[in-house]
Amino acid sequence: MTLEMIDGDGPQAGSAAAATPDRRAFLMALGGVALALAGCAPQDRTGEADPGPAQPATPAPDGVAQDPAGQGAEDTLLSAIDRRRSIRAFADDPIPDADILQMLWAAQGITHQDAGFRAAPSAGALYPLETYVATTEGVRRYIPRRHELEAAGDSDIRGPLAVASLGQMFIAQAPAVFVINAVYARTEGRYGDRGRRYVHMEVGHAAQNLSLMAVHQGRGSVMIGAFIDADIRRLLGAPAEEDPLYIIPVGTPG
Ligand SMILES: Cc1cc2nc3c(=O)[nH]c(=O)nc-3n(C[C@H](O)[C@H](O)[C@H](O)COP(=O)(O)O)c2cc1C
Repeated sequence: MTLEMIDGDGPQAGSAAAATPDRRAFLMALGGVALALAGCAPQDRTGEADPGPAQPATPAPDGVAQDPAGQGAEDTLLSAIDRRRSIRAFADDPIPDADILQMLWAAQGITHQDAGFRAAPSAGALYPLETYVATTEGVRRYIPRRHELEAAGDSDIRGPLAVASLGQMFIAQAPAVFVINAVYARTEGRYGDRGRRYVHMEVGHAAQNLSLMAVHQGRGSVMIGAFIDADIRRLLGAPAEEDPLYIIPVGTPG
């Protein structure tokens, strides 16, 4: 890893997925997902699966915000896409946990309570991503099924995260630094080598959702792809099976 790799254009990207497409495996897996969907679809009085479109999320379990998308989300999507810009200077005003959770919901929150489907698509609905947030309070991991943050460490690691990101020290100024890790085995277990490519696509979906939610909240972010994987994993206290893929510092543009 060298400084030239800042902006994520290092050789890692090219070496990740050299596998031959396994179309048969993909179609079989898709069939499996279709069956799973049919199995969890609402039944009408004749016992047949309801063929209608999926309904919006059913009432959330206790403790889960009823409307994490926020009021007027539909009115601001175009504006958020238009206004998103990489931000590398942040004011130091803290981000309330409700807003942190809203960004994590956009990235990995459950939006279909029955099936457990999430805000970002996932090949085979296997969900290989694990998300963390580092603040002055320490490190916390997002638990999608409870829409909660779980303590993962007491130390403020934003400075060390910046150092491990080849010295991109603006990361340390952001009041919230999100990290998205992946467990490749979850997706490779079904799709083989091709699964690695799918995981990389998925982290892009999740990260973009998070960054657009940041804009919706009046904040900004930048995608960080240049860092030392082992250092980031150690700082998070993440298990060896997790590979860090993206760091996303978020804050009010400073
Ligand atoms: C995969 C990827 C990795 C990136 N890595 C970094 C990085 O390590 N440091 C950084 O400052 N910006 C990084 N960026 C942000 C780009 O520099 C930025 O998106 C680009 O300059 C376009 O500007 P915009 O995001 O404002 O449209 C990364 C972007 C992507 C998509």
